[in-house]
Amino acid sequence: SSLLASRHICWAGLSPLACRLQVRRNFKVSVVGAAGGIGQPLSLLLMYNSMITELVLHDLVNVKGVSADLSHVSTATDVKGFQGPEQLEKAVRGADLVIITAGMGRGPGMTREQLFEINAKIIIQTVNAIAKNSAHALIAIVTNPINTLVPMAAEVLKRNQVFDPNRLFGVTTLDCVRAERFIGNYFNIDPKEVKVPVIGGHSGITIMPILSQCKPAVNADEECIAALVQRIQMAGDEIVLAKEGKGSATLSIAYATNRFADALLKGLKGDKTPIESAYVQSDLTEACFFATPLSFGPKGIEENHGIPELNDVEKLALESAVSDLKKSIEKGISYV
Ligand code: LMR
Repeated sequence: SSLLASRHICWAGLSPLACRLQVRRNFKVSVVGAAGGIGQPLSLLLMYNSMITELVLHDLVNVKGVSADLSHVSTATDVKGFQGPEQLEKAVRGADLVIITAGMGRGPGMTREQLFEINAKIIIQTVNAIAKNSAHALIAIVTNPINTLVPMAAEVLKRNQVFDPNRLFGVTTLDCVRAERFIGNYFNIDPKEVKVPVIGGHSGITIMPILSQCKPAVNADEECIAALVQRIQMAGDEIVLAKEGKGSATLSIAYATNRFADALLKGLKGDKTPIESAYVQSDLTEACFFATPLSFGPKGIEENHGIPELNDVEKLALESAVSDLKKSIEKGISYV
């Protein structure tokens, strides 16, 4: 389809070279874990992104069916499927963006950290494959526990001598999506009108919605604000409970991850990007990975917008979040 795009412009009278210069190359996105509960709806949403001309699906099972199914969607995106550990390298080769959703989700009574042992090996294997086959790809990790797996992934990339802190992300967009939705409900307004920074990490008290900086302003009493914050922090558990033993959130994560991927790709393309938070290497606090609002460019992170102004309650919450994150980060780094 990139050929089609350049032919199209050539017909308009430009040389093939001009075509290549004018048409920003189209993007190849690989989804690892594509046949799973998050991977399937995410891949469907990615099919609608006109910047993606090649969507590569990888999983351990069922990839053939999912990719055949998606290949009937009437968009210009090519779909390819690869299955099994032996095809992982092929699946990520030459990708501009690899989104990792592979691994186990939580069941009732579990914390995200309890998934670490189960999911660490999958992330190590995938990140090694990326390091060897698409070292310049942006990497977006959705698999939990994000707080621990992202620093661990950084370590794996360092060992392969290809770590670039501007290209590795833990996807925390779901926390922003939830904050927008819950605050939107509270005000009875469209969530799209809610702008609220969510910083920190992606688990319990490390999820820090900064309601003092919300637009429109949340003029509510302390108790009400505390309740909103707690709902955002515990929203993942709300879904685990509602699914009654059949896993954790999938559809809202797919929605959020698609939104994040779109911002990354706009950056790669050189367009002005929306600001999205993500969990990245950071020197803003004592936690060397920390989510803050970012904007993106052709090399990944273009600008880290830093920690927004905090009120006294939020300052205290930041201390607890940082101390929690430091432990998770240390665990990830020492595992490698
Ligand atoms: C979420 O926030 O819904 C996800 O991180 C899944 C989970 O385990 O809660």
